[in-house]
Amino acid sequence: MMQVLKKENLIVNSKAMRKAVLFILSILSTLNAWAQEAEPVKKTFWDDPASDPMLPVYLVMAFVFVVIILVGFVAIYLIKILNMLTEEAEKENAERRGVSYEPKISWWAGFIQKVNAAVPVEQEKSIDLGHNYDGIKELDNHLPPWWTWLFIGTIVWAAVYIFVYHFSDTLPLQEEEYQHELAVAAEQSRRLTASQPQAEVDEAGLVYTNDAAIIEKGKAVYMSNSCGSCHRNDGGGNAIGPNLTDEFWLHGGDVKQIYETIKNGVVEKGMPAWGKTMSPLNVKELTFFVMSLQGTNPVDAKAPQGELFKAVPVESDSTAKEEAAL
Ligand code: HEC
Repeated sequence: MMQVLKKENLIVNSKAMRKAVLFILSILSTLNAWAQEAEPVKKTFWDDPASDPMLPVYLVMAFVFVVIILVGFVAIYLIKILNMLTEEAEKENAERRGVSYEPKISWWAGFIQKVNAAVPVEQEKSIDLGHNYDGIKELDNHLPPWWTWLFIGTIVWAAVYIFVYHFSDTLPLQEEEYQHELAVAAEQSRRLTASQPQAEVDEAGLVYTNDAAIIEKGKAVYMSNSCGSCHRNDGGGNAIGPNLTDEFWLHGGDVKQIYETIKNGVVEKGMPAWGKTMSPLNVKELTFFVMSLQGTNPVDAKAPQGELFKAVPVESDSTAKEEAAL
């Protein structure tokens, strides 16, 4: 029991950790909302791999890939054995003819020797500078050719780069690239909004009605944007987000205030500004759904926070009419 308690304290009370989790969650949910907004219904292979028609093709490709790699390994191994056998044969041959056997330098060893051009250990005396620090000697080695060529390569690259980017304007600079991407994104978003015109929401005249269709949609938006990761799926609230089912509100429980909170978020407290990534209509649906949670009283809900406000007038329509009549 002690152990469990301690663990809980660790998770709930460690401020830094809470902040980190909050931060990651807010980024994730914003990304999530953004991705959904940008690409409406494109299904990918990973959504349901088992029933994807391309599955057998991918499996066969993966199998062939593995086989090719295995064959490659075996081939390398065989070549090694072959080399060893040839070497043995040459040794024997040299012995029989009475000449001393000179091992052939492999292509690779020759290449390494060439790019390093290191002085062999036996000839080190010839480049000894005569400095001796407690037995540590200084050798006058050249820069290895690979290093020199890399250095020359960077100079050539710089020249090409300057010419391509600054003189010939063949390729765009970062600033231009950025502007271009902005333009592409603006065009994409223009086309997206044109293809699915969004009903404007009259924020000033917003009135709550317990319209089941809107609330149902709001629930779907709530679920697909993982509001539940901070408020729980039943709205009861958790270590991060407040309880949405009680009559206490940190930012006001009037329909317009709730709409504003969801739209603009409380970014410094970890509540994302959803209006940036979703349509006004979605925000309205969310607002109605949140208000419909009033009094649902889920188990283990978080303690009330903020001011008391009866968010859902029992007869919202008739009171509105009465007010209008006055
Ligand atoms: C990353 C965590 C996180 C996510 C995701 C999140 N919220 Fe929040 N939300 C918070 C926090 C934290 C607060 C309290 C802010 C404060 O303390 O001022 C809050 C506050 C609220 C409030 C105001 C409550 C009050 O008492 O005034 C509403 C309404 C709300 N969120 C709705 C939503 C909806 C709807 C979603 C999904 C679209 C959502 N939240 C997603 C963290 C989150």
